[in-house]
Amino acid sequence: MDPLPADIHQTCETRSARGVFETRVVANESICREHYRLTLAVDEFPLAHPGQFVQIMCTDFSDAGWTGGAFIRRPFSIGGLRRRAGNGISPPTRRGRPASSTVELDILHRAIGIGTCWLASLRPGDAVNILGPLGQAFPMPAAGGPPALLVGGGIGLPPLIWLAETLREAGVPAIAFCGARSADLLPLTRDPAVACRPDEPTLSCREFAGSGVPVLVATDDGSLGAHGLVPDVFADYVDRRRERFAGATVYTCGPERMMRAVAEVCRRRNLSCQVCLERMMACGMGTCQSCVVRIRDGSAPDGWRYRLCCTDGPVFDARDVIWE
Ligand SMILES: Cc1cc2nc3c(=O)[nH]c(=O)nc-3n(C[C@H](O)[C@H](O)[C@H](O)COP(=O)(O)OP(=O)(O)OC[C@H]3O[C@@H](n4cnc5c(N)ncnc54)[C@H](O)[C@@H]3O)c2cc1C
Ligand code: FES
Repeated sequence: MDPLPADIHQTCETRSARGVFETRVVANESICREHYRLTLAVDEFPLAHPGQFVQIMCTDFSDAGWTGGAFIRRPFSIGGLRRRAGNGISPPTRRGRPASSTVELDILHRAIGIGTCWLASLRPGDAVNILGPLGQAFPMPAAGGPPALLVGGGIGLPPLIWLAETLREAGVPAIAFCGARSADLLPLTRDPAVACRPDEPTLSCREFAGSGVPVLVATDDGSLGAHGLVPDVFADYVDRRRERFAGATVYTCGPERMMRAVAEVCRRRNLSCQVCLERMMACGMGTCQSCVVRIRDGSAPDGWRYRLCCTDGPVFDARDVIWE
């Protein structure tokens, strides 16, 4: 009982296409007080890039009908994607079919409502239906320039984790600034052997350290890393090294207020900034018009137009966004 039109069910022969996929849960680990890392395996998945997302069917549909969860799919950034030969993953216990798995996707999720609590209940072997990849990816900077600067807050970190890995593969160095309200709400795995310094990025968080990207953690209450809001900590760090970061590209994802502040920091310092926006979404594919964002457009009568976060975004150039 899939509510999607038949034409979007694809088998990925066109590797850049989106499709609907039955995946299997490999792991669903708690990483901090409210966040989980869900790893899904699937036989094949189209070409995808950091910034893109999937719509997850956060419910069980069995022959007996609906058995709990959310009726409408929920959007989640792809937090990592690994293409592997071989198998080793056990068959599903819910709707789905056993097969040799070659692609693994990471989804970091925060349990806040009906769909995400359903996700938090998943166990290895369970089947999960996803639609994707959707949306526009982050543009990549050219190699040989200054380090890319990644600024994330809370559950905005997943697309930046995958971006860090992609930047490393492209030979672009990066530094991450990661904010959370408190240490127990930081959705990253700490390496106890590496100090988390308040003034200097270190390889203290495994998700970024794996890509060689040092992290400066900022917490609102000062319980870990620098004490303060991540846009302020980021601005202070950049201001003390202006020459080094001249011409750098900043990538940000997190609560809208945080991204807006990061965009303002960048505007004042003439740094290019890409924002990964979040809107309430229903279809995720440009049909329902529920996810509009006001974007500057000199050719429009009022100087702006509505764009769709799901298909025109979620990544936009910060200079174009008219913040709510
Ligand atoms: C492009 C995109 C990428 C996202 N990536 C991630 C991700 O990687 N990890 C993650 O945990 N979450 C992510 N989100 C947010 C996630 O989609 C919502 O948290 C999820 O839809 C909540 O579903 P629910 O059924 O658990 O909550 P509901 O029961 O539907 O709602 C619970 C509460 O959360 C609010 N809420 C629901 N969705 C949103 C939203 N999109 N923005 C603001 N408030 C909302 C509701 O108003 C309500 O107050 C992303 C959203 C978008 C648009
Ligand atoms: S979510 Fe339906 S148009 Fe964007």
